[in-house]
Amino acid sequence: MDTKLIVGTSAEIETECLVVIATDHGEKQKNEPRLTNQDPVLQKAAAELLSGGEITSRAFEAVLVHHPEGLKARRLLVVNAGKAKAFGQSEVRKAAGSAIRFLKPKMIKSCAFVVPDTGGSAADLLRCLVEGAFVADFDPDTYRSERKDMRMREVAVVVSGNADRTAAQAALNQARIIGESQNFTRELVNEPGNRMTPTILANRAREMCEQVGLKCEIMGPDKIKEMKMGAFWSVAQGSDEEPRLIVVRYDPPGVPEKPMLGLVGKGVTFDTGGISIKSADGMEKMKYDMAGGAAMLGAMRAIGLLKPKVRVIGIVCATENMPSGRAQKPGDIQIAMSGKAIEIINTDAEGRLVLADGLHYARTLGCTHLVDAATLTGACVIALGMVNAGIFANNEDIYQRFCKVLQHTGEKFWRLPLDPDYFEQIRSSIADIMNTGGRYGGAINAAMFLKEFVDDTPWIHLDIAGVAWMEETKSWIAKGPSGIAVRSLVEFVKSYESGN
Ligand code: BES
Ligand code: MN
Ligand code: ZN
Repeated sequence: MDTKLIVGTSAEIETECLVVIATDHGEKQKNEPRLTNQDPVLQKAAAELLSGGEITSRAFEAVLVHHPEGLKARRLLVVNAGKAKAFGQSEVRKAAGSAIRFLKPKMIKSCAFVVPDTGGSAADLLRCLVEGAFVADFDPDTYRSERKDMRMREVAVVVSGNADRTAAQAALNQARIIGESQNFTRELVNEPGNRMTPTILANRAREMCEQVGLKCEIMGPDKIKEMKMGAFWSVAQGSDEEPRLIVVRYDPPGVPEKPMLGLVGKGVTFDTGGISIKSADGMEKMKYDMAGGAAMLGAMRAIGLLKPKVRVIGIVCATENMPSGRAQKPGDIQIAMSGKAIEIINTDAEGRLVLADGLHYARTLGCTHLVDAATLTGACVIALGMVNAGIFANNEDIYQRFCKVLQHTGEKFWRLPLDPDYFEQIRSSIADIMNTGGRYGGAINAAMFLKEFVDDTPWIHLDIAGVAWMEETKSWIAKGPSGIAVRSLVEFVKSYESGN
């Protein structure tokens, strides 16, 4: 999808479809839709539509007008973004997305968004429009034989003549990079287990790194064993597919050694549960158990292109979790790279095992700050549903920094605790630690396990099990892989740029 900045007035824009957002200023049941842009020509073109009652209080519906009066555009699309009082960056993203998903099936392949002038930074609004458009442009039906190519060809954004053109162009470029990177992640996550093995994931990572100029190192079983990654290997040992340790480095020239950020992702390309096998119901969904790893690769892609002045290492521990004659068994003891002895209670709690070694390895590479992302626990889905992802932190500064970022990215995370008292749940009588801690507080038990492997390094753990896969289509996003965390990870990294 191409993007274009247009400086000018709405009336002059020649486009297949001009898109403008409306909000509702009415009290209670009464609808009073108004455009979010005050351009008089635009107002006039939409006047009849706005007074006609077709725009209801149902947010994110769109109404199309042909041959709008006074405009050069062939069509005018008005998207309703709900109550004016609640209108913010998230609503801009959703409205932009809803417009794209309204136009796509009609094979209208280009459009131009009018940037709201309701206050707030024009660059921020523009960024949300473009990111929202990219998110909406993605469809997961890769393997449908009658698939029509409905992707948008071009999205333009219209800003007024007195806007800061350089700032707008920079925001547009950044939004495009982030939107494309989020969709890169979604493509990886969407692939089924037979087409996204650890080897294939590593190859995709290498290819991406070559394209954007990042260093990429890929290690197989021998190196994983040689480095004594006993926790990671314990998951991989049962599978005929070889595991891969993917290490992506971004070290910009002339930037201090520290801070060095480590982004560690769970890359379980299929999770059967292993010997503690999962039930058949819904097991097919476990192809998305590499969403955390894919998010790290998407974030690294964006970082490679945006070139922030801070060092970053992306690490993905990629493996399948399979039952076999070689698979690990409940009761087995595994020695992690850090030296800690783990009693395996349930082989289905494999994500924390691969991350334990991934996080420790990141520290040996010199990472001063760590973030991990993983579809780690069903318990997190029980706790927070499919709206918020879980966030855990062992350090207030890093947590606050991440929270600040969330205000700009519109992604939803809710903090869960990490009190030392919870450690009792995972204390082992035969080894240092058990890999599960019973039914209660399952998301916390998993996070407590990881905490043992980061020591004092400031660290954030993102449990994205409930939000990495959308169960239902929304008007602004297709069901399927969401690409959660990519946007926030990129903004988080940028917040560490030297001088910040
Ligand atoms: N990959 C799953 C977690 C998961 C569940 C992700 C649902 C997405 C949707 C993870 O490896 C797992 O199986 N966790 C177990 C842990 C349990 C055995 C302690 C779980 O949550 O049931
Ligand atoms: Mn599992
Ligand atoms: Zn898993």
